[in-house]
Amino acid sequence: MVGLTSVPKLKLGVLISGRGSNLQALIDATTDASYPAEIALVISNRADAGGLQRAVDAGIRTLVIPHKDFTNRESFDAALDNALCEAEVGLVCLAGFMRLLTAGFAQSWHDRLINIHPSLLPSFKGLDSHAQALAAGVRFSGCTVHFVRPEMDAGPIILQAAVPVHDGDDEDALSRRILEAEHRCYPLAVRLIAEGRVKIVDEIARITAGKFAQTPLLNPLG
Ligand code: GRF
Repeated sequence: MVGLTSVPKLKLGVLISGRGSNLQALIDATTDASYPAEIALVISNRADAGGLQRAVDAGIRTLVIPHKDFTNRESFDAALDNALCEAEVGLVCLAGFMRLLTAGFAQSWHDRLINIHPSLLPSFKGLDSHAQALAAGVRFSGCTVHFVRPEMDAGPIILQAAVPVHDGDDEDALSRRILEAEHRCYPLAVRLIAEGRVKIVDEIARITAGKFAQTPLLNPLG
């Protein structure tokens, strides 16, 4: 019998604050044996985050680190950092994590920390991106997966998906349409990183090899 050598999977630490539908998309992706990443730890800053149960149901280790227990952002981020390092996490995925991280944390996890944001960055940074898109009258919006830099919603873009904005859309309708795209993009972005296919050159993320070569802007719904 020929011996099978298994390639070690990239260990993910997923940070959440809420319902965790993007966490669920990552959990679902990892149930495919050929997916090159696994979730080692889910951390929430809120004990009531719905996403925690999703992790428990999937048999994934969870940790609640309440930000209110810390007197400043540095000590909270140090607790996050310790937990992630102890779990030997190789890539941190922010998935609806509603705390601003310190520049020190972003630097410690430079190029190993990604976020998903519900707009086509650099447009509509911040919390109310759907309302901003509707107010601007754009015909398309979407989502962006990007490496995190100390500035909010900034950093090399790994991939984006565009969705139409329809007449009569309200924030709920637009966010539902974008969320569907998010659930396809986040697992794909993690796959590309885990396969070593994302290189950052002069602060631009280039995707190398395979069918996404030469396409830093990718619309998986297209
Ligand atoms: C998503 O829209 C994500 O883009 C943003 O926060 C939301 C989190 O949703 N950063 P969920 O908790 O993953 O369902």
